[in-house]
Amino acid sequence: MEKFKDRYNRNLSYLRISVTDRCNLRCRYCVPLTPVTMLSHDDILHYEEVLRIVKVGVGHGIRKVRITGGEPLVRKGVCGFLAEINRIEGIEDISLTTNGVLLKEYIDEIKEAGVKRINISLDSLDRDNFLKITGRDNFEKVWEGIHLAVEKGFDPVKINMVVIKGLNDHEILNFAELSIHHPFHIRFIEYMPIGEAHVDKTQQLLTPETKKIVGSLGELVSVESGKNDGPAFRYKFKNGRGELGFISPISRHFCSRCNRLRLTANGMLRSCLLSDDQVDLKTHLRNGCTDEKISELFLESINHKQRKHHLEITEKQAVSTQMNAIGG
Ligand code: GTP
Ligand code: 5AD
Ligand code: SF4
Repeated sequence: MEKFKDRYNRNLSYLRISVTDRCNLRCRYCVPLTPVTMLSHDDILHYEEVLRIVKVGVGHGIRKVRITGGEPLVRKGVCGFLAEINRIEGIEDISLTTNGVLLKEYIDEIKEAGVKRINISLDSLDRDNFLKITGRDNFEKVWEGIHLAVEKGFDPVKINMVVIKGLNDHEILNFAELSIHHPFHIRFIEYMPIGEAHVDKTQQLLTPETKKIVGSLGELVSVESGKNDGPAFRYKFKNGRGELGFISPISRHFCSRCNRLRLTANGMLRSCLLSDDQVDLKTHLRNGCTDEKISELFLESINHKQRKHHLEITEKQAVSTQMNAIGG
């Protein structure tokens, strides 16, 4: 079957699937402080529907799948779903992005499902600051979950920190230091203005500055990217057990090597995180469409994939959809 390839010759082999827009945290850079309307149960794709979509994608060269949210672990039955994805022949890499709050409860099931690696969002190493950023007093739970993930053999365990001036930039060195003594991959992410959030654009701290701060701890040695790698540029300290990564959508576009497609919780295909353009898969599925139609809709979405995003520092908001509904 025809491999997924866009107009700019990029092979699309990585599907990010958001299984819910719900979340047990309220990160300031992700959701507004005011209450947000959540998708209703009927709006959300059933697991069987998602599995069918993945199977069609695999026929076109999808090899890597990441499950995201909101917070994926708040959706009932997600571990069984992970196991089903893992059973699909052709999937080489299945991973999970979680905020870690429920890791302790589900870690064994996640492992049994065949997931080998986990990315965990953590924006502060300080309990009070964690509460300030996420709105919930859950630092200890996440921290324990992270250590448990290492103990249980997940490799790598990546930690995502969205760097925000005045909120957690004073913790950059503490995060970087973690990569010396622990096998974690610490990733510093530039804040992207997506949907309505409670962070000001003036609070964006770009990678060159973050890297300078990190570099004061020791020489950064660059690490070659792997075949299935996401957008991070990888480094490590010479004596470090772990790694450092910089995800720089603003200061260093990675669009030219983008291999990603996204499926939102309500069944929309999106070919770019930073575009509101989407193709409605759910309606077709629920009207009994064929697998050929699913392929066609994938191709339609791919055909819309833009060459690069235009996230300039002066722009107000890149996309109007909330980050928790797209899944990062
Ligand atoms: P790995 O496969 O482990 O390298 O994962 P990843 O880095 O692709 O996934 P993760 O869910 O940990 O995402 C980390 C950060 O990268 C998040 O802030 C994402 O929003 C951001 N990110 C991931 N993919 C894209 C993308 O296609 N475009 C942009 N601009 N940002 C992305
Ligand atoms: N900008 C950058 N990263 C974000 N994330 C959530 N919202 C934003 C944003 N506006 C990150 C989370 C998580 C990943 C999936 O996306 O911290 O680690
Ligand atoms: Fe939840 Fe992730 Fe958004 Fe935080 S960034 S509110 S953990 S979906």
